[in-house]
Amino acid sequence: MQDFGKVAVLMGGFSSEREVSLDSGAAIVAALQSKGIDAHPFDPKETPLHELKARGFQTAFNILHGTYGEDGTVQGALELLGIPYTGSGVMASAVGMDKYRCKLIWQALGLPVPEFAVLREDSDFDAVERGLGLPMFVKPAAEGSSVGVVKVKEAGRLKEVYNSLKHLHGEIIAERFIGGGEYSCPVINGEGYPAIRIIPATEFYDYEAKYTRDDTVYRCPADLSEADETLMRSLSVRAAQAIGAEGVSRVDFLKDTDGKLYLLEINTLPGMTSHSLVPKSAAQTGLSFADLCVEILKTAHVG
Ligand SMILES: Nc1ncnc2c1ncn2[C@@H]1O[C@H](COP(=O)(O)OP(=O)(O)O)[C@@H](O)[C@H]1O
Ligand SMILES: [Mg+2]
Repeated sequence: MQDFGKVAVLMGGFSSEREVSLDSGAAIVAALQSKGIDAHPFDPKETPLHELKARGFQTAFNILHGTYGEDGTVQGALELLGIPYTGSGVMASAVGMDKYRCKLIWQALGLPVPEFAVLREDSDFDAVERGLGLPMFVKPAAEGSSVGVVKVKEAGRLKEVYNSLKHLHGEIIAERFIGGGEYSCPVINGEGYPAIRIIPATEFYDYEAKYTRDDTVYRCPADLSEADETLMRSLSVRAAQAIGAEGVSRVDFLKDTDGKLYLLEINTLPGMTSHSLVPKSAAQTGLSFADLCVEILKTAHVG
């Protein structure tokens, strides 16, 4: 096995997803150690990142979610420190965090995204409502975990919803409702992995369905035809490539009632707890959690 030296698993951090990150990190440390790798937890909230070198770390496995973790800032710091790290670099991380700019890139390449409009103070809210129809989804471009995601069902309410969300991060976007099912597809080192069907018991895949309820159903293999499975994997690879994502990412999809697939968003630092989606999908191909962690570690790089 390649010698990775002393490996810091970057976990915890400053974002609201700190707890999820600590869960993922603990699972990764144990997995790497089980493979004989000298891996240790490293929480930048407790120890400043610039201590990595002084403490003898040679490689970083990044599993910090959210702000200062998957948005390009930690990646930039690691570049300056010259410590090889796993996953996407500065630009792909930053673009992946911004749903609006991500959509612009995908659209420019002809990839399918749900029709959308950016809402501003002076938008013609009635025109947007007529254009996208009801129900529609309204969301901030730079949050996550379904924070600020609203399904608007009644006519004439769009401006009020915009006003309640405009303090959140990023542009506020209104999106056509795509109602035929939700899927997610990992990309690992440029290759599409088995899609997962997500069936929330709530009206949509909201914060509760993601983190607190235990009745969300995940199906892998998903319920797609062979042709759609192949299409979804190839769209995932192209969507990740489009923003320059590296290592592991996870591309989320919606299917409409006619069966057409749409890109919903990309996650450049997906969760890695033992029950997270990426490990579930990898397991379908015979890749164990520990082997998956080693595969990811192999991609650590700077520059
Ligand atoms: N256009 C849409 N049509 C149908 N459902 C949507 C749409 N946009 C968002 N949703 C629902 O809201 C959830 C959260 O939205 P998403 O854009 O993925 O934000 P987040 O980054 O917070 O996960 C999705 O998983 C899906 O269930
Ligand atoms: Mg999402």
